[in-house]
Amino acid sequence: MNNIVEIAPRLIWVGGSDRRLERFENMFPLPNGVSYNSYLLTDEKTVLLDTADSSIAALFLDNVAAGLKGRSLDYLVINHMEPDHCAQIGEIVRRYPDVRLVGNAKTFQLLDQFYAGQTSEANRIVVKEGDVLPTGNRTLRFYFAPMVHWPEVMFTYDEDNGILFSADAFGTFGALSGNLFADELDFDRYWLDEARRYYTNIVGKFGAQVQAVFKKLDGLCLRMICPLHGPVWRRDLGDILKKYHYWSQYVPEEQGVVMFYASMYGNTEHAITRLAFKLGERGVRDIHMYDVSKTHASYIIADAWKYSNMVIAAPTYNLHLYAMMDFVLRDMKELLLRNRRVSILANHSWASAAMKDMTALVESMKGMTVVGRPLDIRSALRDDQEAELDELADAIAASLKENKEQ
Ligand code: FEO
Repeated sequence: MNNIVEIAPRLIWVGGSDRRLERFENMFPLPNGVSYNSYLLTDEKTVLLDTADSSIAALFLDNVAAGLKGRSLDYLVINHMEPDHCAQIGEIVRRYPDVRLVGNAKTFQLLDQFYAGQTSEANRIVVKEGDVLPTGNRTLRFYFAPMVHWPEVMFTYDEDNGILFSADAFGTFGALSGNLFADELDFDRYWLDEARRYYTNIVGKFGAQVQAVFKKLDGLCLRMICPLHGPVWRRDLGDILKKYHYWSQYVPEEQGVVMFYASMYGNTEHAITRLAFKLGERGVRDIHMYDVSKTHASYIIADAWKYSNMVIAAPTYNLHLYAMMDFVLRDMKELLLRNRRVSILANHSWASAAMKDMTALVESMKGMTVVGRPLDIRSALRDDQEAELDELADAIAASLKENKEQ
């Protein structure tokens, strides 16, 4: 059983997809599955670039054998030592005992931590930044990309063909279903949101490191990008590169509002809904609303990355901020999201804590600006608080307009 695709002369995709896995890293929902890409170069030397997750081991190993067509495997380049890509290293070494493992010092440190005793030191080539590996008709050059997404990550660049093997960078959630190239898919319609959710939640914290790698790549001729997840890029590379520039610099892609709330009996929900409709009346069109108890935080984080404004609303619970809202805001803080405009609604019945906690969390994030006067309702919105809500809606609408015109 194999399923391989030649994506360029003597370059074969030998990956596969998992549609059964419920959550990536046991954390992020995967409604559309996920792919684990691996690539095989069949030059004068044969080179496998990364392996695959254990869930697709049988297919992956058959793919490698089919791609090699009876040849031996000379090198395994390990761009990333996270188990979704390196789980088959031990099996590859068992099947191809002469293979030489190519990685950096940190790669091998992690290899020995995760898979102690599975590989021998004698078969290792330890590379440094900028080192090359000639394969016959190609030269592979290694660029370190620390913290995109782990410290050992490196990119491998095929200098002769302009092909970048980019590890997790430029990856997306989503299984591959017959089309391997981004230009064969309606990427913007069906994949972009998941690419953003993948980037923001997995790599989002490391924007500075992504920028540092971009500087290294500046000036390289890029004809194809081969990530470890999701489709391969061979056309319109500028589209995804531009998104990465926005995302890694925490710059909103669009002027719009993400509204997310926690509500126990519907009163906080009602208040934020009234505000949303007041925004609609003021001509605001890009409004997205989520209940933090229902929508997984990763979706909310991705939208918060995309849009310029947030409105957050939550009640006090056990004399603190409602736990699910607390989680989303702390997650956002951990991921270092910054430079957004935030408006705050809170609710309490006898002791107010949500307002204080939300304000403190927002203020602890870099470059966050509070828009409008925060409104702390008591149990339920009163008719005489409509004016305050109007004032808040005016302030949000004005901030959107102001920034659109800049
Ligand atoms: Fe897809 Fe960081 O592993």
